[in-house]
Amino acid sequence: MPDPTPPPAPAPRLAELPAPVIAEEQTTVYLGDAVELLPLLPEASIDALVTDPPYGLSFNGHSWDGASGFRESLPHMDTSAMTAPEVFEAWCTAWAAGALHVLKPGAYVAAFGGARTWHRMVRGIENAGFEIRDQIAWLHTTGMPKSMDLAHAIDKHLGAHRTDRIVQTTDHDGVLGATRTVLSKGTPVTDDAQQWDGWGTALRPAFEPIIIARKPFAGTVVGNVLQHGVGAINVDGGRFADDRWPTNVVFDQGQADALDVLTGTWQGESLSRKFPIFRFDHKPGREERPRAFGVSHSTVKPLALMRWLITLVTPPRGLVLEPFSGSGTTLQAAVEAHYGVIGVEKDPSFIPLIRSRLEV
Ligand SMILES: C[S@@+](CC[C@H](N)C(=O)[O-])C[C@H]1O[C@@H](n2cnc3c(N)ncnc32)[C@H](O)[C@@H]1O
Repeated sequence: MPDPTPPPAPAPRLAELPAPVIAEEQTTVYLGDAVELLPLLPEASIDALVTDPPYGLSFNGHSWDGASGFRESLPHMDTSAMTAPEVFEAWCTAWAAGALHVLKPGAYVAAFGGARTWHRMVRGIENAGFEIRDQIAWLHTTGMPKSMDLAHAIDKHLGAHRTDRIVQTTDHDGVLGATRTVLSKGTPVTDDAQQWDGWGTALRPAFEPIIIARKPFAGTVVGNVLQHGVGAINVDGGRFADDRWPTNVVFDQGQADALDVLTGTWQGESLSRKFPIFRFDHKPGREERPRAFGVSHSTVKPLALMRWLITLVTPPRGLVLEPFSGSGTTLQAAVEAHYGVIGVEKDPSFIPLIRSRLEV
């Protein structure tokens, strides 16, 4: 069991909640910092937290995903002696403390993490007082390795130029900005480069973890469900393919196909049917990635996966919290599945994306 006396939520810098930027029947959205705003929401008022927070990877150089953004949320804390991973953990502890305040006893959290940093997020969630219940591995096939070509780096370091190296650089304004594609890595020039040819620094990412946690409660699950209406998982709501029990591994179609190619069929059915399948796409199409005033979001999650997670952990017509709304995927999924939802987003340029998803 987690420590029953979690650290207190940081003292709010605002005295009260600001006016929401979106206030619809099912949806309320606040522009601001989730660390600051969550403690201002009414205590024990929300049924579930489903979120895709920053992973602490400085993704594409975004400040919202790096230590500078996290430090902005923690003005009350001296983070000067902390490493970037420590700042990320302190920040996760801070938002999770706010979540603990606002969730009902027994309410679930489903939070995405990055493969390199999720241990810090899990510690933060646990530090805040949640009980870690499970993790879902979302296996996918489209990740690109961010790996150093060691031999090329050595040649460069030694000032040796590869005449047969071909790099294509795009200059379009895609959501991920310009891209560089190495069409031919060329032939290693120096002896050292030849020795280290074929070495790199990273594996190809092929899974994302989703942490499942729960706010502790006194007494039994039965007593808590009857009193607060939360504390259990909607197993039937999460069933898929022939009514199967929801699993803590989910696939994208590529993984499902790969499994079936490897294993063939067993007793007349493909093995991949034992797992839910959700699209994983680094650059989803327009129907899943809105664009407004020249802005689109670079880390959009699939609607179907968000809907499945919400359904698993939220009572029917319950209230979901997404403190890191981005373009509003979680919000749209919640609304379409007839839940209420409260969203927070710090970057004003993403609010029009949320509006366009919600058509408000
Ligand atoms: C990973 S993205 C969410 C993307 C979203 N799942 C989607 O599909 O569009 C995380 C978002 O959290 C926002 N964010 C970062 N720090 C925040 C904070 N302290 N409070 C509120 N939002 C924050 C970022 O601006 C970013 O849009």
